[in-house]
Amino acid sequence: ITVSPKLLHSHKLVHDYEQQGLKNQIVLKFSHVVAENTPKGLAAKKFAELVYKKSNGKIRVEVFPNGMLYSDIEEINALKENKVQIIAPSTSKLGSVSEKWGIFDLPFAFPSYQAVQEGLNGKIGQELLQSLEKDDLKGLAYWINGFKQITSNKGPIRTPADIKGQTFRIMQSKVLAAQFNQLDAHPIQQSFDITFQSLDSKKVDGEENTLSNIYSKKFYNLQKYLTISNHGYLGYVVLMNKSFWNKQTDYTKRILSEAIEEVTNWNQQEAHQMNEKQLELIKKNSSINIHVLTDAEKKEWVKKLDPLYDKLAPTIGYNLIDEIKKLRK
Ligand code: LMR
Repeated sequence: ITVSPKLLHSHKLVHDYEQQGLKNQIVLKFSHVVAENTPKGLAAKKFAELVYKKSNGKIRVEVFPNGMLYSDIEEINALKENKVQIIAPSTSKLGSVSEKWGIFDLPFAFPSYQAVQEGLNGKIGQELLQSLEKDDLKGLAYWINGFKQITSNKGPIRTPADIKGQTFRIMQSKVLAAQFNQLDAHPIQQSFDITFQSLDSKKVDGEENTLSNIYSKKFYNLQKYLTISNHGYLGYVVLMNKSFWNKQTDYTKRILSEAIEEVTNWNQQEAHQMNEKQLELIKKNSSINIHVLTDAEKKEWVKKLDPLYDKLAPTIGYNLIDEIKKLRK
């Protein structure tokens, strides 16, 4: 077969063009620790799809879920070193950046999803997002997961007295540790990726998490009791490496910002339902004992934990505590 020089030439042109295109393609690595079928997992995927579509393939976001690149303990440093360009850690894990972030971990801080949205989109959220600039981080948005529930192997947990003496895996957060200490339980701060193993080997009696994390990581298979307590909030701040962000053209910044805004709106609408659906799946797939806190029981928890607001105000900041108190009313 003879190929005409003209055809060869045109193939070469296409090839060169594609190579050129690929060379100019901007690639961002997005690392996170949860499963894909969760509010964060789906938001990250959707963000990647939107960016690719809006930029006609010129910008590509590669998503690495399930902590396959970095654990939650490692990811903030990996971002600072530009090994990855985007992460979305839970706000609880930003205590190493500033103690202010503990505000989101306070017990029963948000009475509803609406209060969460008001907090994130209002003064508290804005102040914290802006405070990241000095730490060389670019805060892009807040994504919601939902409210935390309690799972345990050692007897049903209804009142604060029931949790006394139990060992719990918690996230890396001083405020969360203070809560469990206040309840006379034993908190152990561990990364998310070893939680399953810790529960499985009975190193801990229980853990607290959202229904979507309890479901997608199958913690419910290892635990006998689930208390629907909605005692704390779990959500994320989407972070980018600031120097990487600053180097981007206005075009890239615009595409990324537009995509983030769309996904954030979507996430803030959907997260609640996703957790509700996953509760149904937990019920369907297991015989775990479920208890929903009654109003009277909830009052007992609030009473026991409320002193933490004043106790932690000096470290978190009086102004933020005042703001959150307004949302609790
Ligand atoms: C946890 O560590 O339990 C959560 O922060 C995981 C996550 O990112 O939702």
